[in-house]
Amino acid sequence: MSSSRFTSEDVEIRVFTTSEELARAAAQRVVDALRERPDIVLGLPAGRTPVGVYADLARLSAAGQADFSRATAFALDEFVGIDHAHPASFHRFIREHLIDHVGLPIERFHGLDGSADDLQVECDRYEAAIQQAGRIGLQLLGIGGNGHIGFNEPANELPPRTHRVTLLDETRKASAALFNGDVDRVPREALTMGVGTILTAEAVILLAAGESKAASVERMVRGPMTPQLPASFLQSHRAVEVYLERGAASRL
Ligand code: GLP
Repeated sequence: MSSSRFTSEDVEIRVFTTSEELARAAAQRVVDALRERPDIVLGLPAGRTPVGVYADLARLSAAGQADFSRATAFALDEFVGIDHAHPASFHRFIREHLIDHVGLPIERFHGLDGSADDLQVECDRYEAAIQQAGRIGLQLLGIGGNGHIGFNEPANELPPRTHRVTLLDETRKASAALFNGDVDRVPREALTMGVGTILTAEAVILLAAGESKAASVERMVRGPMTPQLPASFLQSHRAVEVYLERGAASRL
């Protein structure tokens, strides 16, 4: 495998030549964490970036090299107005790409319900469920082109815990593919774990691929910590690892 490893501003960075190599390494990292603690609590993102990681984990599970039977998982975020059966649901996405293939009991896979009547109650319920499950042992993350993590959009202030958020136009455009390419059908709001929730994880692995992520990756690693670039707060976490395909690393 061709990869390089270095540390910048206390953030450990691994750069891979291809997305396939990145996926293999990230999947192995998850498997190692599972071996160390079979009842680990995982935090999981949807999106294009983790698809290869989930496919590799499904393969490793089928080969008997990964045992998810005692693990618990929490989805990172969800659109408002969308239930778990909706084709654009992040809960459904993670279930179809990972959970259904690795034997993680479905009752231990948790997601936010974007169709809940009272969204504040839903956010509070989710935050309490995370606490009750114990600390998230390993949180996987993608990053938005604007530096968001989960659906924590650039803002003057970031609510630390699970909350309701208004999506920025660029994020709705980036999500249009989930709605048959029709940006007008993308919900205007979402529910997301807060940056504070994410930072309570014991270890965080951020995945990024493609040059469209290079600028936000550079600011995440080198820029000041600012709510205008939510991923920059990962600099304050002592066990964050950044896995980059080389396009996403092209400005470092
Ligand atoms: C989405 C999600 C994030 C995801 C990010 C990157 O909008 N809210 O959880 O990590 O943007 O997505 P992708 O991996 O498809 O580039």
